[in-house]
This record gives sequence, structure tokens and C-alpha cells, in this order.
Amino acid sequence: MTDFAVLHSPACTAIWEVRPDEAPLWRYWGPRLPDGVVPPTPLRDERPEPSFSLHHDVPLSLFPGIGMGWFGAPALAAHRGGADWAHAATACRVEQVGEDTLHIHLSDDVAGLAIVIVARLDPASDVLTLSTTLTNRGEGVLDVGWLASACLPLPPDAREVLSYTGRHNSEFVAVRDALSRAGWRRENRRGLTSHDAFPGAIVTCADGTAYGAQLAWSGNHVQSIDWIDDGRRQWLLGEGLAPGEMRLSPGESLTTPEMLATVSALGADGVSQAFHRAIRARIAWPGGAMSPRKVHLNTWEGFYFDHDPAALQDLATAAAQVGVERFVLDDGWFAGRHDDTSSLGDWRPDPLTYPEGLGPLAAHVTALGMDFGLWVEPEMVNPDSDLYRAHPDWALHIDGRPLLTARHQLVLDMSLPQVRDHLCDAIAALLRSLPIAYLKWDHNRDLTHAGNRATYRAQVLGTYALMARLRAAFPAVEIESCAGGGGRIDAGIIAHTHRFWTSDCIDAISRVGIQRGFLRFMPPELMGSHVGACPAHSTGRMQAMAFRSGVALPGHFGVELDVRGLNDADRAELAAAIARYKALRGRFHQGLVWQGAAGDGVVWQAHGSADDLLLHVTRTAPTTWRHAPHLRLPMLDPARRYHLTPEGGAPVTVAGSWLVHAGLALPPLAGEAVAIYTLTAA
Ligand code: DGJ
Repeated sequence: MTDFAVLHSPACTAIWEVRPDEAPLWRYWGPRLPDGVVPPTPLRDERPEPSFSLHHDVPLSLFPGIGMGWFGAPALAAHRGGADWAHAATACRVEQVGEDTLHIHLSDDVAGLAIVIVARLDPASDVLTLSTTLTNRGEGVLDVGWLASACLPLPPDAREVLSYTGRHNSEFVAVRDALSRAGWRRENRRGLTSHDAFPGAIVTCADGTAYGAQLAWSGNHVQSIDWIDDGRRQWLLGEGLAPGEMRLSPGESLTTPEMLATVSALGADGVSQAFHRAIRARIAWPGGAMSPRKVHLNTWEGFYFDHDPAALQDLATAAAQVGVERFVLDDGWFAGRHDDTSSLGDWRPDPLTYPEGLGPLAAHVTALGMDFGLWVEPEMVNPDSDLYRAHPDWALHIDGRPLLTARHQLVLDMSLPQVRDHLCDAIAALLRSLPIAYLKWDHNRDLTHAGNRATYRAQVLGTYALMARLRAAFPAVEIESCAGGGGRIDAGIIAHTHRFWTSDCIDAISRVGIQRGFLRFMPPELMGSHVGACPAHSTGRMQAMAFRSGVALPGHFGVELDVRGLNDADRAELAAAIARYKALRGRFHQGLVWQGAAGDGVVWQAHGSADDLLLHVTRTAPTTWRHAPHLRLPMLDPARRYHLTPEGGAPVTVAGSWLVHAGLALPPLAGEAVAIYTLTAA
């Protein structure tokens, strides 16, 4: 009698074949199967021995080993001074914990390993969360070079993997790779999440089913997809460990970051929707629930380092007049910080620029009814700073090697308790002395020489611990995760934060693609999206206010320009855009998101539900067609009728089947334009 472990959620099913002496074999991960359906036969009964092959068949398991008959990629690479390198579970016990969670207890009694895999298929989100804890049960130190959070199976018709790369000012560049019998691999070794390799991907199959995975981790990571002998593929995702970084003494354990994975018969949109639900559930909002996302004014692109308290007060007044709700004082406010060459670490107001401190500006902002927010970059230090002069040993370094600066700065060693204590005290002093409701938490360089013994992992955990301490002490304060724009966007840091700064590129044309990539994994209310200056500082391109504000509309809206310098028409248009955002944010910031392309440079996203949709249509390039394309809305119910209302226009009633199959007739849109429609089921 074969045992199967089964987890169901409304849209997904995972099934493992369980035996007492090996890791659970992957039998199914895919769209929901009916209750009670399990494989008709044990897997090995379906697989006669191929020629010239092992007599003992080793199929894909949840924890594939090495050296003992599994010839694909292993979940673990570890050894004790060269010994105990071969791994295969010798015992397995599956413990059901509640309805949706399994604790899979494995041991490898030969190599001296204990492994616990926690698998939870969340019924609310359809996301399977997997993590692995490895304990050294042998004698001698276990040197761990790789421990996957999990191993997932992909079906034989998996065709293409969509992942995201980029750089500063150009996040979420979509890369589509065809899957073949050659392997696919993405790695990040920059020490933080990085612009270069978002820690996740979406795989699409020939039948339209899509699989997604992302790692809840803000450091190095590795993911790989490899073809295996039965035509399926194995998808491994986990933290990237540097040589010598993880050496477990007897009895010590290593727990991986969580991996979030989902599958949807509805394709990539279904994957995104499940991720949005799961990410929303990970956020610890002040007061327990998200409040309407306040309109920001961020001072960076309007002022850079040119801080003048009187001008900033005028800016705050002008911002409040157009409807801004939160004023964020960016870089340049602290002791000696007049450009990017100095002072990171000296977290007290510059006595020359702010002789009375930040109190008067903060009081002015709050008197206008706005929140006051402050930029910090806690993990960083400039060599030209009081902090570095007092504690040069606190910066990451490797004895005998030169320091490598980026943006003139070094990285503090967050594994040191004294560093975390110091930063906690410094930031807490600011939070206690000023009415700060919001911290923009930046991280503007990659990690190099992370310790005489590598401390990449400790760096991430140290930052999480510092954020957690500050959140516990100041639970009303929201935190934004920023890293030179979108260098730290991931499901790990969001447990401590409330917004991502998506990109330093606020050019609205560039933002269309960046935001579409972001929305594949993260919900819109976390997506910092600002109206920037014209011409855009990052690209020099010019875009109309209507277009800039229209592109920013679905995210967490903000303004990043000197409002005082706007002409009357642009100021009035910005005020109207802010009013429109306030009216619509409740609808953009909940529910489901769909994304599509209508052709001829028109892309769209829809927010809400099949009964009640906000449709956001963007033209990114002048038309090359004589007539505008039709936009098909596959998520609507073909059996119903819909009231369709273009913004500012009169409603018409249209059959759902027409909109699903023939499509909405778009008007001719100017070369760069946004149009909004409401669709409500009649
Ligand atoms: C990088 C961020 O992405 C910007 O928004 C700004 O905060 C600068 N750092 C300040 O140095």
C-alpha cells in the first residue's frame, strides 16, 4: 500500500509519494485535482528499468541527493573535510500539522544529517511555501555550500521561463528564455536582492498553465531549472552561500529562506494574483490593516543635496496645496552631507543647514496635515564620517585587502551586535525626537569583501533584526525598502517594510515596463510610483503631465519634483491627478491584477474583480496602424452584461461575451497616453 501526502488549495494540488526510507517523491504539482485523486500506481511501477541504468531507480524527490543514484541537481552540497559528501535520505516521516501544512522529517543516518522541510499550501493565496532546516547530526563540522529552500517539479510541456534582470535606473527588464535540455540558471552574488536578478521567475507551459516561484530573501540567491530523465524539469531555488560561509558545528542548524511557489491554469496573471495575495498577508501594517496609501512628496529629484529649510518649507506648503499627504525628506539632511562623498553614519541633522534641527520643518509639515518622512541609509558608512573615524573596524573588510568603495561608501558589518545596537539607538533617537511617521530605508551599493569569513547571510539577518527591533519599538512607523531604486524588492524584506521604491528612473515610458515587471510578483499598493520632472532626470525624455501622472496612478502614488516650479496648468493638472488617485486608490489597491497587450504599442492592466474592474490602458508609442486595436478582456464573464464607462464619458452597456472575444474598441490615443475605464457587471 503506497502512501501519498496531499495538499490542496482552491486552485492547486501537490502530491508526494511517501516511503519510510527515502525523501518524498514528487508525483504532482499543478492545477487542483479533485479530492481523493492520487496516482494509480507507485511511480516505479510505471518506469521499467532503462538499458544501462541503475537497478534502483531514483526519481525526483522533494530533497534530491547526490552520489546515491540521483543524477540531477542536488538540494544540498555539503561535506565534512571531504567526507560525508554523498547524500540520500535513509528515513522519512511526514507529519500533518493542521489541514494545510506538512512537516517532512528526513534523516540521512550515514552522512549524519537531519532535515525538516515545512510545506504549507495556503488556502487563502494558493501559494505553496517551502523551507528546509538542515541539522548537523554527525561528528565534526559540516561545510555547507548549498542548501535549496526547495525543489519543485515542472511538467514536460514547460516551454519558457520569464525572469527579470536590470541595473540601476532600469529594473525589471524581462528576459524570456526557451527551456531546452540544456539547463537554465540565474545567480545573484551582490549581497542584496539586486537590480540584476529578481529572485524568482514564471514558467509557462504549452497548455497555458503557468508556474511561479520567488524567494523571500534579500541576499544572494541561486535558481536553476534542469531537464530530468523522465521529461519533467526540476526547479531549485535557494540562498547563494559563499565558500566557507556556512559551517555547521555538531548540533547546529541552518534554516533556508522561504520559497513561495504557485501554479495557475489561468497563466501568468493567475500566478501574479496568487503572489499578490501571499505578499499582502506577509505585511505587518501599523494598526493591523493597510490604510489608504498616502500621496508622497519626495524631495530627492527636486532638491538633491541642496537643502534649504526655508525652501523646503515652501515646497511642503506647495505640496500640501496640490493634495500631498506625506512629505519625505530625502538624502542631504544629516551632519556634513552636502554631496555623496561624506557623512553616511552620522545620523544627526546638519548643524549648519538645520541650526534648529529638523523640528521646525517637521512641525511645519505636520501642521499642514501631512506625515513627515525621513530618508536613512543605516547599513552604510562613508570613510569621511565621524562614525568611520571612531569605528573603522565596523565596516566590512578583509584583512590585507584594499577597501572597495561604491558611491564613496562602505558597508557596515550588520552581523556585529554593537553595530546593530548603535544603529538602533541612532535611528530610535530620531524617531523619538521628531514626529516621523515614515522611514525611507536605502542601501546604495553592492556588498564586497563581506568579512574575513563570509557574512552575506548574517548581513541580511542583521538588517532584518534591526528593522524588527525598530518596528517593535515604533509600530506606527512605516518603512520603505529602497536600494538605489529597486535593488531590494523581495518577499523577505516586505515582512519588515511597507513600500518598495521601484526605480530611480521616473521617466514614464521607462516606468511602464518596470512597473509591469514589478506587478508580476508584488501588488500595486507596494509599488512606489512618482510623477517626476520634465525632462526626466534619468533619461532626458519629455512627457506631458497627464501621461506622467497616468502611468504613476495605479501604484503608491507620489510626486518627485519641485512643485513650486510648475506652471499653473501643470500644477492644476497635478492636483487633479492627485484627486483622481485618491478617488481610485481604494480600487487599485485591492483585488486582482491582470496585464495584457492589445497590439500597436498599447498595453493594459485591469484591477479588481470580474464584476467590477478598473481598466488602465497605456499607449507607449505613436500608432503605426490606421485604426486603434481592440482590447480583449478575457477575465470577464461572457454570460453577463457590463456597464462600461470611459473616464469622463457616458456609460454604455456591452455584452461580456463581446468584450471577451471581440474586445473593447479603443479610441485613437495620442503617442503617449493613458485611458481609464470602469467596467461593472449589470
Ligand atoms: C537612491 C534612491 O533610490 C533615491 O531615491 C535617493 O534616495 C538617493 N538614493 C539618495 O541618495
